[in-house]
Amino acid sequence: MCGIIGYIGNREAQAILFNCMSRLEYRGYDSCGIAIGGKNIHSIKNKGRVIELQENAPRIEGTLGIGHTRWATHGTPNAVNAHPHFDCHGKIAVVHNGIITNYLQLIRKLKNKGHEFVSETDSELIPHLIEEYYCGDLQDAVEKALDEIEGTLAIIVLKEDIEELIASRRNSPLVIGIAENEVFVASDVPAIVEFTNKIVYLEDGDTARISKDKIRIKRNEVTITPVINEINVTKTEIEKNGFDHFMLKEIREEPEIIEQSLDMLTNEKNIDEYRQVIREVSDISIIGCGTSYHAGLVGKYIIEEALGIPVRVELASELNHRHRMIIPDLTIAITQSGETADVLVPLKKLHQCQAHTTVITNVYGSTASRISDSVLYTHAGPEISVAATKTFIAQLLELYKITFYSSIIDTDSRMYAHKELMCISEKVKQMLENDVQFQRCGEFLSEHNEVFFIGRGINFPIALEGALKLKEISYIHAEGYAGGEIKHGPFALLDENTPVIALLTRDGTRDAMISNIKEIQARKSPVIVISDSQDKDIDGITDAVITVPQVPYLFSPIVNTIAVQLIAYYGAKFKGCPIDNPRNLAKTVTVE
Ligand code: M6R
Repeated sequence: MCGIIGYIGNREAQAILFNCMSRLEYRGYDSCGIAIGGKNIHSIKNKGRVIELQENAPRIEGTLGIGHTRWATHGTPNAVNAHPHFDCHGKIAVVHNGIITNYLQLIRKLKNKGHEFVSETDSELIPHLIEEYYCGDLQDAVEKALDEIEGTLAIIVLKEDIEELIASRRNSPLVIGIAENEVFVASDVPAIVEFTNKIVYLEDGDTARISKDKIRIKRNEVTITPVINEINVTKTEIEKNGFDHFMLKEIREEPEIIEQSLDMLTNEKNIDEYRQVIREVSDISIIGCGTSYHAGLVGKYIIEEALGIPVRVELASELNHRHRMIIPDLTIAITQSGETADVLVPLKKLHQCQAHTTVITNVYGSTASRISDSVLYTHAGPEISVAATKTFIAQLLELYKITFYSSIIDTDSRMYAHKELMCISEKVKQMLENDVQFQRCGEFLSEHNEVFFIGRGINFPIALEGALKLKEISYIHAEGYAGGEIKHGPFALLDENTPVIALLTRDGTRDAMISNIKEIQARKSPVIVISDSQDKDIDGITDAVITVPQVPYLFSPIVNTIAVQLIAYYGAKFKGCPIDNPRNLAKTVTVE
């Protein structure tokens, strides 16, 4: 969950580290720190955001260094617990992303040998252990230390008087960026894309010895030649470009993402990829967490309705603790980041059982993409806001494509779906232009403490997603419910201070939903209906109507999602919340 960065080159490291750390902040932002190497190591760290540390930092000269943005696991966010951590003599500095599971045992052992610890973190033991093994070769000492450590990690190590960085990863992401006489190491590509597009993806177990003009990677005891990938993420993709928040920018990108996703279908090779995913299978399981889990729930409706294949959707975090794993013919794992620990654990188990897996992810080279049989990239570009928005829409598109381009669907259904999907981006553009209705609703919600979202059928998951989005960024307590379920308990919470957002679509659920709305109104709750049509059926039974474009039922989650995303965004904006970096959260959740 933390972000780590390393730099070695000819330029002053300090400014570069701060720049990259600000781009890594979405991974954790409760504290941060840097260490600059050279004859001696100088370090500064603090509780709070990178900008605060940067503004108060003295100038530290040096052309190599490491930095860290933290999402606390062991120990409260404060300057002492912030990284980098040091050995006893302040000669070895380490930044770490991950969790060490045998840390108590290792700390005890090191204390018995006279090591003194200052922080409450597990990470601090790493420089001490390296110090124990150091006999003149830093890489050798790092490797020996890592042999003793259990858990997940990505680390970068800096030692005084050595013009090298050592980096290593195990179940936490780490990439190396190469430029002219300078090298960057980072938790992800967007952090360094301003400086280079030449990227080397480290694999689990790799250790890299990095100087400004040379990288040596050791994999399975052998030094390998690094494979350099030229990636096409641009700086504009990681800037706000005039928007107040990344979240709004990312929602506004959705029509283009839909178009790009459908453009993939003009290439026969891509179509073939979609044909291959669902073939002769008798059952499918979809796994994911948070927003990606909600995409999976929509996927169930799409696949079951269009293909008639039973789909089980599991919270990946729950699956991890089952005594018995039921292995379906196909498992689809959905994970925007491709690094969510709760998804990786079952995915690895499935891989070990030789179960067939497909991953839908937005991050090229992510761990999930490397441990599955096939990968569908959502190509949504970097998503910086902690709240997932455009990547959710892109995930839905992948689910539509694997369904309607599957080799087992009839041609008419495919052609119909294709035609309808092609019209959606234009409709979404028009909807985004009528922003005021979402602003009004957001403002109204911002004055309340409790909100319900309800939906039926394929829009029930969108009610869940609306509630997740609202609570995540506005801190308003929100619950998503199936329209028919709200009377089975939650009715007890309804009153004039509890608004209900109801998703009403022209489909088989419409009449039942209208009955639910009337029942809610009778309990005095304000009802705001998100509807694809405004007619006499809903006159007088709602306090406000938000209109979304009419699209066929199976595609209605696209427009309804965008509506709830915007409502959540404006709700948080009216409350003055830090929308892109909500408290206590991180974009990539690499701990179980
Ligand atoms: O990277 P993933 O899709 O695996 O992430 C899963 C969840 O952590 C994520 O969707 C989370 O719920 C979002 N912050 C919601 O906006």
